[in-house]
Amino acid sequence: MDLVALNAVAEQLVRPGRGLLAADETPGTIKKRFDAIGVESTEASRRDYRELLFRSAGAMSDYISGVILHDETVWQAAADARPLVELITAAGVLFGVKVDKGVKPLPLFPGETVTEGLDGLEERLRGYRERGARFAKWRAVIDISAGVPTAAAVKANAHALARYAALCQACETVPIVEPEVLMEGGHDIARCDEVTRFTLHTVFQELFEQRVALEGMVLKPNMITSGKQFGREDAVEDVAERTLATLKATVPSAVPGVAFLSGGQSDTAATAHLDALNRLGGAPWRMTFSYGRALQVAPQKAWSGKQENAAAAQRAFAHRARMNSLASLGRWDG
Ligand code: 13P
Repeated sequence: MDLVALNAVAEQLVRPGRGLLAADETPGTIKKRFDAIGVESTEASRRDYRELLFRSAGAMSDYISGVILHDETVWQAAADARPLVELITAAGVLFGVKVDKGVKPLPLFPGETVTEGLDGLEERLRGYRERGARFAKWRAVIDISAGVPTAAAVKANAHALARYAALCQACETVPIVEPEVLMEGGHDIARCDEVTRFTLHTVFQELFEQRVALEGMVLKPNMITSGKQFGREDAVEDVAERTLATLKATVPSAVPGVAFLSGGQSDTAATAHLDALNRLGGAPWRMTFSYGRALQVAPQKAWSGKQENAAAAQRAFAHRARMNSLASLGRWDG
């Protein structure tokens, strides 16, 4: 493992004013997003939509450091036959691949899941690296409800994340380690805080045991918020203060960067929270975005499946990318 090279990629992903575009929705998830704008999800419509994002020249080269792709996109060509990954790298942006195989029920733990995908992972990582990928992503999902999560479920997910991260580093690929505590539910912000703290502690313990080099990874956590069905909005300052305190208590300073998921926050809330976090100061790692929905809801709406709306969709994407870039510097002013 070349730790200097891995660290350089991790640093590049979180360099000042940049963040990641998570465009790695599975066919099932992108279908949900397209249903919301009345577009049929086909291989061609997914290609057309993602092509317009990657061709947003200013947005990509000025605000985005990396794009997370689904396997399908890695091998897809644009309408003019150029590989989509070439459009991304031509903008000076790295690409990486979501390599987990999704969540499966955790046996004997009703309501809990574990992320699968370790079998054959090394071969897949080598194939992606040959194609030009420099990083990968694996998402563990932790639910909150009565009596959930159990320590066993958190541990199983953390162990798989660490096995994935170690395999990535052995294949000269930077792992994005994503333990997502879901926003789904009626829990309050203190409960999210408690579960996120326990989850991050467990994840870093497993990463240590599996000998993962923290300098060569990026953490992709949730922010600390109340559940979507809690019924009251969190104060922006409360989210920022709790999130930073919990990360400081659990994430070693050797990690170069923290790139948050948006997890169902509105796009402006995700920007406001990231900005407030960066205004607090004193964090030992860079804090930026790795947003899916918070970057894409606006361009998807503007596009609505029509070629003549492509320019408007690119403007909407560029706007959100710029707002999040400013937020990653603590310079967004609403
Ligand atoms: P959201 O920002 O929509 O949560 O997506 C980020 C992601 O990559 C989830 O795995």
